[in-house]
Amino acid sequence: MTNTPLRKLVAGNWKMNGLGPSLREAEALAQALAHEPAWARVALCPPAALIERMARALADGAVEIGAQDCHAEPSGAFTGDISAEMVKEAGASLVILGHSERRSLHGESDAVVRAKVEASLRAGLEPIVCVGETLEERQADRADEVVCAQLAGSLPDTLSGRTFAVAYEPVWAIGTGLTPTLAEIGAMHAAIRTALAARFGETGAKTPILYGGSVKASNALEIMAVPDVGGALVGGASLKAVDFLPIVRAA
Ligand code: PGA
Repeated sequence: MTNTPLRKLVAGNWKMNGLGPSLREAEALAQALAHEPAWARVALCPPAALIERMARALADGAVEIGAQDCHAEPSGAFTGDISAEMVKEAGASLVILGHSERRSLHGESDAVVRAKVEASLRAGLEPIVCVGETLEERQADRADEVVCAQLAGSLPDTLSGRTFAVAYEPVWAIGTGLTPTLAEIGAMHAAIRTALAARFGETGAKTPILYGGSVKASNALEIMAVPDVGGALVGGASLKAVDFLPIVRAA
């Protein structure tokens, strides 16, 4: 199976950054994108506290807003958490779930991620579900097995017929400047496509599979051209319009 004919999705994951110049950067980006054909879908995912402000600042443009996480429950005694309904109310239309930093630093299991994906659907958010192996797992030749197990455990059956994305982010490529070879990216995206199509039929055959991990202006074009790469999840290079725009153009 090859590249989906759908528009690619380029999502910027700001992580816990974004105060100060970043909002102006987002506005600059929105302005720049307003003068370009909408070849790709573009989303920015700021910290939760900035969602409403950014949604207001970008209201007139085509740039979508995403959250970086949400809780599985709609409300309740969960100090410090934020529900899918709340991020939707603040102006987000997407949510990143199961990012490796959530899985490793907050102990999120596949079951927790799956419950969050259910919550995102309940709230009308489009989930971007992240999977990816560690360096040890790749070196032990277990990358496929680990990623397929994460997919099986993190994706609920209710995704059938729904709009969602998967992001393949090798943990060792995130924020390191290292990337897999194009052949390795292609092989993993093909494996993910096969798993999605087997489980979700037509939905799985067209769901965008984003690549994430040290995507930058200099490698975006070749990564986007790999079959079954349906876009990118970009961390560090999404904080400045000058770095992010070439990646959007590459899509
Ligand atoms: P990076 O991060 O682009 O800075 O490697 C990607 C991510 O964590 O989503």
